[in-house]
Amino acid sequence: MTSADAIKVMKQEVGKAAADRVKSNSIVGLGTGSTTAYAIEYIGDRLSKGEITNIVGVPTSFQAEVLAKKYGIPLTTLDAIDHIDVAIDGADEVDPQKNLIKGGGAAHTREKVVDALANEFIVVVDGGKLTDKLGSTFLLPVEVIPMAITPVMNALTKLGGKPELRMGIKKAGPVVTDQGNLVVDVKFDSIDNPKELEKTINNIPGVLENGLFVGVADVVLVGEVINGKPTVREM
Ligand code: 5RP
Repeated sequence: MTSADAIKVMKQEVGKAAADRVKSNSIVGLGTGSTTAYAIEYIGDRLSKGEITNIVGVPTSFQAEVLAKKYGIPLTTLDAIDHIDVAIDGADEVDPQKNLIKGGGAAHTREKVVDALANEFIVVVDGGKLTDKLGSTFLLPVEVIPMAITPVMNALTKLGGKPELRMGIKKAGPVVTDQGNLVVDVKFDSIDNPKELEKTINNIPGVLENGLFVGVADVVLVGEVINGKPTVREM
């Protein structure tokens, strides 16, 4: 198995394991990213086979909405419900306390709203996402309203970060979020206190939300390939 194949298998298996935890009569937060995409597909699969019934999804992005429609999951909005039973979402980094960096798909603002509201938030990752300290391998995404981009980047630099405006791929110019904002990816040499940094960054005028998810995750499912065999374990 090539390493690309192994990552795909880990994502599929962990997505399936999360989908298997969804019970009938549930309101389900549908996360964003390539791993959650498999969870959405398998929830749709279980619905179509009649294994589960009466599921409604709350999408965290345009991507999640498109996938839910493709796989036959009925959707609702936060205005129409009073709770979310379970949310399933990916992450870019996970530390031993189950704190996360998210936002690799520029969807962390809506993801935080939905994931934080869920009675149970299940994170689905491949083993490569586990880290001792947040910020070691992944830059911290920050969503910023466009008119404030320069002062926000200056403020992030003053905090010790190295901010970079995220640019589009196969699209000239910057990435524009589902809300019409910009994303700055910030390199911090060391994130010693994620809880504090999450609040400090969100306090900069013009910042909508950053990708630190502290104390939000309940369960982390980790997909791994051990001796050529895909496995899923709960962290
Ligand atoms: C999107 C996210 C994703 O959940 C995160 O980037 C993980 O994605 P993938 O499962 O494709 O690795 O936070 O904003």
